Amino acid sequence: MHRLIATLAVLVPLMGLAQATNPTPPTSPTLDTNRCAVKLAVTFTGRSPDAALLANPNPQSQIDAMLGSTAFIERFSRYVNARFNDEPGANSAEDAAYHMARHVMTNRLPWSDMFLGSFRVDTVNNAVSVVNDTNGLGYLRSPAWLRRYAGNEETGVKLSTAYRMLNNITGVTLTAAVQVPGLDVSAAGRRNAACSGCHYDAWFALDKLSSVLTKRVGTGDQMRFEPPTAGPQQLLNGQTISDDKGLVTALVNSTEFEFNACRIAFGFVHGRKELACEGPLFDKCIDAFRAQRTMQAAIATLTKDPSFCR
Ligand code: HEC
Repeated sequence: MHRLIATLAVLVPLMGLAQATNPTPPTSPTLDTNRCAVKLAVTFTGRSPDAALLANPNPQSQIDAMLGSTAFIERFSRYVNARFNDEPGANSAEDAAYHMARHVMTNRLPWSDMFLGSFRVDTVNNAVSVVNDTNGLGYLRSPAWLRRYAGNEETGVKLSTAYRMLNNITGVTLTAAVQVPGLDVSAAGRRNAACSGCHYDAWFALDKLSSVLTKRVGTGDQMRFEPPTAGPQQLLNGQTISDDKGLVTALVNSTEFEFNACRIAFGFVHGRKELACEGPLFDKCIDAFRAQRTMQAAIATLTKDPSFCR
C-alpha cells in the first residue's frame, strides 16, 4: 500500500518580474502576418503553417476552421489528458479524459459534457471508444478510470477519486507527498490538525466528498465498487448531495468550473498561467464560455484577440 500525505502546492505568480527592472512599458509591435500564421499553426496543431495560411493576409480569420481540424483536436485532447492526470495511463482506456475530450471537441459539445455527458469510455472489440450510456457521467464512471483512481485507503474510501474529480473540474491542485512510517492514516488520523485542513475542513474536504462516492472493495482483479451508505450529505458550502452525479453536478455549476475552463484554454494557447495584467482578456474568455459553454469559445476568444499576434 503506498501511503500519502499531501502538501498544498503554492503557486507563485510570476507576474511583474520582468517589469520590475524596466519601468518603461514594453512596446507591442504587431507580428507580421507570416509570424502570426506560424504562431497560430504551432499553437493549434504543433506544426508549421501550410502555404494557404502563410499567404493569408489575415491569418486570424482562419481560427474557426482550425478549431475544427483533427490536428487541433488531437493536440488539445492530449494536452487535457496531461493536465488531468499526473502521468500517462497504464493503457489507453485509463486515459479516459483524452478519449472524452476528443469526443467532446469533435462534436462541439459543451465542456460540461466531459463530466456530465451520457457517455462512458470503454473497450469495445479491443478498441477504446466513447460509448453512449444513459447512466454515464462523462468519463467519470468509465471502468478503467474508476479503477485507476480507486486509491488504497484501508476501508475503501475513494479519496483519490474525489480529489481527481475536484482537480479536473475546478482546477484545485493539492500535491501528495510520500508519508512517514507509523502515521495514523485512518479516518480518525485524518482528523488530526496536520491532515484535517484538506480532509475535513476545507470547502473541498476530501473525506466528506468521498463519503457520497461508491466504496472500493478488494484490489487488483478482485476490485469492485459498492454503493455509498452515508446518505445525503451537506457538501461544498451547504449543498445536499447524495452520490457522484450530485457531486459532479455541483462542481460543474460552480464558478471555479468556468475559471478552470479558461485556465485550461489559456494554458493550451500560451503554455503558461495567465498574468494579472491579462485579466481583461481572461474576463472576455469567461464571458464567452458562460454564453456558449464550449471550449472552442474559450480558445477562440484568446486566439482571436489582437494581443495574440503582437
Ligand atoms: C494539502 C492537502 C492534504 C493534506 C494536508 C493531507 N492530505 Fe491526505 N490526501 C490529499 C490528496 C489530494 C489525496 C489524494 C491523492 C491522490 O490519490 O491523488 C489524499 C489522500 C490520502 C489518503 C488516501 C490514499 C489512497 O491511495 O487512497 C490517505 C490515507 C491520506 N490522504 C492520509 C492523510 C493523512 C494521515 C494526513 C495528515 C498527516 C493527510 N492525508 C494530509 C491531500 C491532503
